[in-house]
Amino acid sequence: MVIAQELAKKQREISIAEFFEKNRHLLGFDNKRKALLTTIKEAVDNSLDACEEARILPDVNVEINQLSEFRYNVVVEDNGPGIVKVQIPKVFAKLLYGSKFFKLSQSRGQQGIGISAAVLYAQLTTGKPVKITSKISPKDPAHYYELYIDVKTNTPVIMKEEVIEWKKDSGTRIELTLEAEYLKGPQSVDEYVRQTAVINPHVTLTYTNPKAEQVVYARAAETLPPHPKEIKPHPYGIEIGLLMRMLDATPARTLQSFLMSEFSRVGAGTAKEICENSPLLPSMKPAEVSREQAEKLIEGISKTKIIAPPADCISPIGEELIEKGLRKEVEAEFYCSTSRPASVYRGNPFIVECAIAYGGKLPGDSPVILMRFANRVPLLYQQGACATTESVTDTNWKPYGLQQSGSSIPAGPAVIVVHMASVWVPFTSEAKEAIAHYPEIMREIKLALQECGRKLGIYVNKKVRIHQQLERANLFERYIPEVADSLSNIASVPKAALIEKLNSTLKKDEIQAQLDMKIPEPEDDTAAPEDSAETPVKKKAVKKEQQRKLK
Ligand SMILES: Nc1ncnc2c1ncn2[C@@H]1O[C@H](COP(=O)(O)OP(=O)(O)OP(=O)(O)O)[C@@H](O)[C@H]1O
Ligand SMILES: [Mg+2]
Repeated sequence: MVIAQELAKKQREISIAEFFEKNRHLLGFDNKRKALLTTIKEAVDNSLDACEEARILPDVNVEINQLSEFRYNVVVEDNGPGIVKVQIPKVFAKLLYGSKFFKLSQSRGQQGIGISAAVLYAQLTTGKPVKITSKISPKDPAHYYELYIDVKTNTPVIMKEEVIEWKKDSGTRIELTLEAEYLKGPQSVDEYVRQTAVINPHVTLTYTNPKAEQVVYARAAETLPPHPKEIKPHPYGIEIGLLMRMLDATPARTLQSFLMSEFSRVGAGTAKEICENSPLLPSMKPAEVSREQAEKLIEGISKTKIIAPPADCISPIGEELIEKGLRKEVEAEFYCSTSRPASVYRGNPFIVECAIAYGGKLPGDSPVILMRFANRVPLLYQQGACATTESVTDTNWKPYGLQQSGSSIPAGPAVIVVHMASVWVPFTSEAKEAIAHYPEIMREIKLALQECGRKLGIYVNKKVRIHQQLERANLFERYIPEVADSLSNIASVPKAALIEKLNSTLKKDEIQAQLDMKIPEPEDDTAAPEDSAETPVKKKAVKKEQQRKLK
């Protein structure tokens, strides 16, 4: 038999589930510890996305229980809008199924793969199905499902389906049993939850770890971030494949109206100009545009001046709230923040924000703690591969009062927060752990760091000046008895009175007071009382807010 015919017998379609079963590292499931974090991250991201989309202030409950050495049970429950019955099996047991992939607006999820990947990993490592409860309104019943993924066909297998009582207006609860490892440290679930609270001040998170320690991160803001608007793609950066598909699918009758209706920032005049620069007839039918003509159209777009996309499709946290979130979780003596104006990479609008906490009990001589975020999600892995890290090491921190040797992470008692918000965050892989090195993004991150760094520099340099004053005063103080002695001999004034006078001229108390001065917190009219979290405290140990502040 011809070899090609032999091979033909073995050739068949590979389902996406089979592919990721073999390549689970691509989705962030490369070891037991990371698998636990990724599972919780995917579920929490979805809960927060769903709540914000439904304009509900999120109350999310995360619970991890250890079943045996490497077997854990994870529960994530939200008060979101719920999921309609018919969609539940596909959402949780079909890879590449979701609501966010096709729209251009800011959300944590993008790909339609996150939660089903966690379900796939759980069933692969423990053989247990995912258990879902979801309810869409107080009037509707709650639906309970137990599901597997049929890996060969990437379709859901329903093991159990029933209507149950659930005392909740609406929401979703997901339960998974998986092979995992729970460890503390900078890449732990504890840290992920804490950083999620920092960057999402409008969220109340109740977290119970396998050691039965429960922490309630109560919200610091009672208002949801503004709802990011959905936008159409901007013509700059459009690629040929996508353009061809859009030309094929559009209901527009002419090329000019196609450009106007399918892209953002293209009015009649700009559309005409693009056609002229291509050159193509504005009246031609979109479906008749050939590949060569589409390439010309892309050239025409690049020659035309088109205004930048609108920024209301992005929902930044804002200087005030990002600082408030940081104050809540990191104890320091000085805080500052910056939110940059919107910018564009490959046609996608984005905003970079930055905040710094400095001094207090933060460790002084080790590298600063860098917290990276993308669309309000903490990034705990792949720090070295992230555009954020390179922007931090590329910045000269010495003028801002931090130590730095060459191009390295600066050292000093500081936490640096960098947040990138965009309609599409360019991650270096599907595991969404590091931001790709687009020059436009790195430039904005550096500008944000420099802006914030300047504010830090003013504070640190002032502090250094006060220290010098205090040292001078101390030095003079040491000679006061001798000076008083001589003066009292010359002027026949009692020595004690002279000492008192000389001491008062030093104004040491005033200098010391300046040094001890704490930067006042901004007026807090939105803060919720600490005990406002509704979720009941169930477990044995309840850590107090103060205990979890960064020592
Ligand atoms: N807790 C939830 N409440 C409401 N809808 C949800 C919830 N979890 C998931 N969904 C829906 O299920 C879809 C699939 O979720 P999934 O995590 O697989 O993908 P995604 O969030 O769209 O993208 P990504 O792969 O980047 O996470 C979501 O797009 C959303 O529509
Ligand atoms: Mg998701």
